Amino acid sequence: MSLRNWVVTAASAAGTALLAAGLMAGAPAAGRTLPGARAQGGFNARDVFLNKCATCHARDGSGHTVKGHKDKVQPVAQTVKKYSEAQMIQIATKGKGAYMNGFSDQFTPAQIKALVEYYRSLATQH
Ligand code: HEC
Repeated sequence: MSLRNWVVTAASAAGTALLAAGLMAGAPAAGRTLPGARAQGGFNARDVFLNKCATCHARDGSGHTVKGHKDKVQPVAQTVKKYSEAQMIQIATKGKGAYMNGFSDQFTPAQIKALVEYYRSLATQH
């Protein structure tokens, strides 16, 4: 069985999804260079970010959208200095303030982690 198949199989079993995420996070450079390209059972963090998060956070994480300005979204280049990855995962899971919803009903913990990793990677891209 290839590593990729193994990961997909493992991730599809609810109980081991976190374990798989942990193993992948522990693998050197996994997800660091191309976080969005790391598919998790068909889940692509970049695509999902563009669909679900970019209306407010903008495609480049700058928050420069109509909704982002209205809701006072900060640029990720600033917020990475303020929040650790764990704190951001907490916010994306549970929500914060009036406009940032929690996404725990839509995504697994591993998917939220991948989304936050992708979001944080945008901090260095402009
Ligand atoms: C309706 C607008 C909206 C959408 C859609 C949205 N966010 Fe947010 N998000 C916000 C706002 C506003 C804040 C700032 C909340 C605060 O600090 O009070 C925020 C904050 C955050 C933070 C904390 C760090 C930061 O930069 O402020 C993370 C992480 C985050 N959002 C991730 C996501 C992810 C991942 C998605 C998509 C799954 C998403 N958001 C979708 C509005 C949104």
